[in-house]
Amino acid sequence: EKQETPWAQQEQFEAEQIKKAASKFGAKDRKSKAESYDYVFEDQIEFIVDQYLAGSGPEVEETKEEKLKREREAREAEQRSEFEQIQEARKLLPMFPYRDDLLKAVEEHQVIIIVGETGSGKTTQIPQYLYEAGYGKLGKIGCTQPRRVAAMSVAARVAQEMGVKLGNEVGYSIRFEDCTSDKTLVKYMTDGMLLREFLGEPDLASYSCMMVDEAHERTLHTDVLFGLVKDIARFRPDLKLLISSATLDAEKFSEYFDFAPIFRIPGRRYPVDILYTKAPEADYLHAAVVTTLQIHVSQPAGDVLIFLTGQEEIEACEELLRQRTRGMGSKIGELIIAPIYANLPSDMQAKIFEPTPPGARKVVIATNIAETSLTIDGIKYVIDPGFCKQNSYNPRTGMESLQVTPISKASALQRAGRAGRTAPGKCFRLYTAWAYQHELEDNTVPEIQRTNLGNVVLLLKSLGINDLINFDFMDPPPTETMFRALEQLYALGALNDKGELTTLGRKMAEFPVDPMLAKMIIQSQKYGVSEEVATIAAMVSIGGAVFYRPKDKAVHADNAHKAFHRGNVGDHIALMNVFNGWAETNFASQWCFENFVRSMKRARDIRDQLLGLMDRCEIELVSNPQDVEAIRKAITSGFFYHTASLQKNGSYRTVKNPQTVHIHPSSGLSEIMPRWLVYHELVLTTKEYMRVVSEIKPEWLVEIAPHYYSKKEIMEQAAKKLPKTLGKAAEKA
Ligand code: CDP
Ligand code: MG
Repeated sequence: EKQETPWAQQEQFEAEQIKKAASKFGAKDRKSKAESYDYVFEDQIEFIVDQYLAGSGPEVEETKEEKLKREREAREAEQRSEFEQIQEARKLLPMFPYRDDLLKAVEEHQVIIIVGETGSGKTTQIPQYLYEAGYGKLGKIGCTQPRRVAAMSVAARVAQEMGVKLGNEVGYSIRFEDCTSDKTLVKYMTDGMLLREFLGEPDLASYSCMMVDEAHERTLHTDVLFGLVKDIARFRPDLKLLISSATLDAEKFSEYFDFAPIFRIPGRRYPVDILYTKAPEADYLHAAVVTTLQIHVSQPAGDVLIFLTGQEEIEACEELLRQRTRGMGSKIGELIIAPIYANLPSDMQAKIFEPTPPGARKVVIATNIAETSLTIDGIKYVIDPGFCKQNSYNPRTGMESLQVTPISKASALQRAGRAGRTAPGKCFRLYTAWAYQHELEDNTVPEIQRTNLGNVVLLLKSLGINDLINFDFMDPPPTETMFRALEQLYALGALNDKGELTTLGRKMAEFPVDPMLAKMIIQSQKYGVSEEVATIAAMVSIGGAVFYRPKDKAVHADNAHKAFHRGNVGDHIALMNVFNGWAETNFASQWCFENFVRSMKRARDIRDQLLGLMDRCEIELVSNPQDVEAIRKAITSGFFYHTASLQKNGSYRTVKNPQTVHIHPSSGLSEIMPRWLVYHELVLTTKEYMRVVSEIKPEWLVEIAPHYYSKKEIMEQAAKKLPKTLGKAAEKA
């Protein structure tokens, strides 16, 4: 019999989320679990081949002779050394014939916009070309990536191509991890990291070239970078700026950068057949699995790429595929399953790039990361359920949510394109042609218009940019969001009433984390628990990935996890218990395995980084793990903005900007239901959930944030009588 654990509930909620998402495609009442699917062929996309500088470059189509030549060269290459092979492979990339033209364009213009198909070699080759042309002698060659995984993976590839050790001449820098040295001249980094570098080096003096890559992704950090690099380009005429992107909408970028010239790299692409489901599909995960198996048994050789929305879904899909193929044995060819998402350990990421052995078929299950950031060779079939996880932000309530949302037409096109890189391919869209036409937006809304700006505003303020309203954004964020961020920073004490950065604010900006988290860390010394708070900050920074619960060992996992929640004072302390338990075993991986926790190595790295930053900010390291009250007070000192109290009807209400919220079922307090809570974040899935919560006392709010909470208001709320039946905490009282 199925046990009703909080986790079971959570799984159910996740299933509901899929259903809810599907209903956006008109599949509300469809319950079918088909064993096979009918697709209608609607369209063949012949990808347009672009031309260099709007000139008259020839269309690059591989002729039969060229194909034979390429195959012969590939055979010959096998006999050569690995390094030589890699050098040969570089020359086969679509980018290569334009190497000299590109370098000439860079020489002649300060800013250029580069557009080229995913896989043409922009990310891996252009920084190398610049290096080979001698730009490394003038300064570092930087290249930003919106995604952590891409920055690491691409840097590793380029180090290999250049025959150097990663971290020496070629390195990468991502939040909480710096793999560079004094020798580093080609540096890949996340866009967020470059933003932080502005703090120490506002003119990017150590760089000769900066490539803002994947510009079409329009992440928050990339959008802010646009404004900053555009600005410094004016007083650093020697700095070369390259803005590169995979989409065709280069004119907008060009116009923004004072009509910078556009360099187009003709892509080699093959036609992709687009197939749609005949009817809306209620469960895209199931449909993706069935479609994969259908392809596997009926279609010629070629790897499959499935786009899903996140780690949980990818793991579920992997599990389903294993279950379904287990009984089939030798009846079908081998199916190699290779997942890829942001938190996947780097040794496992390499699997997606390994060539598929003859007779087998690789199935790459990926998040959006495979849309343009990573190129995987050999993909012939793409399965596109039509969704991605997207954050949205309501500046009025301060509610952030990460929701499964239909993708844009531009994304759908990118996804389909992944099937036609090396040969003609097929894209199975798990939605109808009608839905594509009528329900998908043309383009994704830039992140800057749908996210909390707290961190970015703090950073811009520390860069001395005071007039944020008139900052040169490509697409400005809503003013309401900007004001909300300013207001929060003011409440946290980071800004004074003139809107200027305070000493505290300057300190807070040193930490690459949310302003509330930064404030909590800075205040922790006062409560004598800075070491514990650093641990908690590191643990919450790795997200919800700590507690691991394999289906076949669910009961063991639940028992192991329960032990961390001893005392039931809250999830923050439980997370600290996990880290301290692991530290006691001298960081043994066996311990993580036995206790069903993971991502701990990353938590340790983040913690080390935070400790380093604390040292720099002269925050003393003091420890008192037993004083759980002091720890929770320290948390509250940063998160007094995020508090809620229990209501008569068993739900919670946020104390300021009142709205109804609930404890997330994965919390250790979900059944205990304390009267007052501080929460780490609000997530909107099927309900408005508070994730990672701890019990607090109402009087702390008045004590810690008297400028924000009035004693009267808090005491009135605290005096309200609640029915005894609410939660275990109420029963005890
Ligand atoms: O940036 P763009 O999409 O234009 O291409 P790229 O990322 O530079 O990829 C160029 C080539 O390098 C592709 O054929 C990739 O398969 C290969 N590559 C690889 O083998 N391993 C990596 N980690 C990254 C790229
Ligand atoms: Mg790229």
